[in-house]
Amino acid sequence: MEGILCRFIMKARFIMYSQIPGPVGIFDSGYGGLTIFDKIQKALPEYDYIYLGDNARTPYGTRSFEVVYRFTRQAVSKLFEQGCQLVILACNTASAKALRTIQLKDLPLWDASRRVLGVIRPTVEAMDRISRSKHVGILATSGTISSDSYTIEIEKLYPHIKVTGEACPMWVPLVENNEFHSPGADYFVKKHIDHILSRDAGIDTLVLACTHYPLLQDKIYEFLPEGITLFSQGERVAGSLTDYLGRHPEMDKRLTKGGTSRFLTTEAAGKFSEAASIFLHYPIKVKQIAID
Ligand code: DGL
Repeated sequence: MEGILCRFIMKARFIMYSQIPGPVGIFDSGYGGLTIFDKIQKALPEYDYIYLGDNARTPYGTRSFEVVYRFTRQAVSKLFEQGCQLVILACNTASAKALRTIQLKDLPLWDASRRVLGVIRPTVEAMDRISRSKHVGILATSGTISSDSYTIEIEKLYPHIKVTGEACPMWVPLVENNEFHSPGADYFVKKHIDHILSRDAGIDTLVLACTHYPLLQDKIYEFLPEGITLFSQGERVAGSLTDYLGRHPEMDKRLTKGGTSRFLTTEAAGKFSEAASIFLHYPIKVKQIAID
């Protein structure tokens, strides 16, 4: 009974807000999504944005489906409450484990006219164009790899592409702890690059399928044999969003365009703004919120 009442109140609240234009919401388990936010904001500077990082509960990469779904659902609900009409899950793990259920189960209950989009589909769409050998390697968190999302999505669009996945569980902690230039990073980057290439020598494209990994890009290049393309998602996701808004003027009209960005985190604000400068290279103002 309580659950039904809760859902009713939640739905009523979204109906009240649903026609009011608002910002684009960008969600990640922590800082990683800032690599996506940065590219989106540069491609579409006139829009307003709210970035939400669930830093208090990061990492998501090692958590179960049920937990990642529950956390992501809470985050999307919070961004909707803040007036966001469109939310981008700028996190591969959340896109892999929660996006479909939120789109199919939660959105129709909350407000079917709002949208939640992920980062996997736009990345997958680029694969046939990028890979000449049609052998692609996916570097991601354990959660994204065990979900098989990339393999399934690539198989649907491009069945002729062979996909090899490699879980790199230490890479997110290296980035989160600002250790991505350390000897520890050398060890863990080399380990996974060597391992994935030994499993398929035909790979000509490695996808950085975790939003934290672009910060390890220079380190990865040190251990990458020549002729292999390292594919970062940010620009691709930004291009795909630009394209989406062009094709959906009804959504574009519901997005405010004041050129502002707000940053929310579930951890201490000071900690977030300090770490965010590593990702964005400029100072930001941050507010701490609770989302559970
Ligand atoms: N940034 C997230 C992703 O793209 C992973 C970070 C985490 O494990 O929380 O998958």
